[in-house]
Amino acid sequence: MPRPVTISYPVAADHAAVALAAAQLFTDAALRAVQARGLARIAISGGSTPRTMLEFLADPAHPFRTQVPWDKLDLFWVDERSVPPDQPDSNYRMTREALLAHVPLPPERIHRIEGELDPEIAAARYESAIRNAFKLEGAQTPTFDLILLGMGEDGHTASLFPHTEALDNLASIAIANHVPQKDTWRITLTWPVINQGREVAFLIEGQPKAQVLHDVFLGPYQPETYPAQLIRPASGKLTLLLDRAAASKLPEPDLATQTGTLELK
Ligand code: 6PG
Repeated sequence: MPRPVTISYPVAADHAAVALAAAQLFTDAALRAVQARGLARIAISGGSTPRTMLEFLADPAHPFRTQVPWDKLDLFWVDERSVPPDQPDSNYRMTREALLAHVPLPPERIHRIEGELDPEIAAARYESAIRNAFKLEGAQTPTFDLILLGMGEDGHTASLFPHTEALDNLASIAIANHVPQKDTWRITLTWPVINQGREVAFLIEGQPKAQVLHDVFLGPYQPETYPAQLIRPASGKLTLLLDRAAASKLPEPDLATQTGTLELK
């Protein structure tokens, strides 16, 4: 059975407000980590939702660019498509265009998943890069300071798609996952590694996500169908950064704070 979790879901007015909240969460997590351990290790997702957040982190009009400790930040990806880094589908390409080309993050601190390689090789190399970056020994697994996730309308997160083999892998850090629904391969962090994140947050927007959000967090526990249900962080806390449209099938948030809370047993 899944571990209990307290879900906090701040509901922002619109896309820009969600992106601002996510950029603030990223910045705060990085600063807290550097304060506590001298470095920050954050894993971000791809897809379309995170793009504006990344742009805000780089935009000199916002405070984040000067607040983020870029020289002490190691950036990782939650997952990657099995494509070269210059392809439109590449999560790395999206991140490079929105963020990396505009901030002083040292190249050696950018831990790209090599989507251009055979998926199994790319996953093995990424796992090795994570082990080196975290100085892991034996069966140790990484504790990222922040893991930012998205959610598909089918209830997938990372590249953990319904009824795919990755859902059963509890031993690896990063794996190749064949996704028949998309007739493609992906490389993804495993869900136990995601659950080990000090802070784990979903960034979800738009009316099309409202029903799946309801089904994942209020419906019966059926993680093969809704892999996002596997995300129950060991910290016991989970944040959902939502806009009003995505939150429309969840209990109304507190009027004063515009933040809702769910206790999942
Ligand atoms: C990816 C992401 C994936 C994404 C969801 C939501 O590689 O696509 O990691 O898990 O977060 O599919 O994507 P959107 O933000 O585009 O809705």
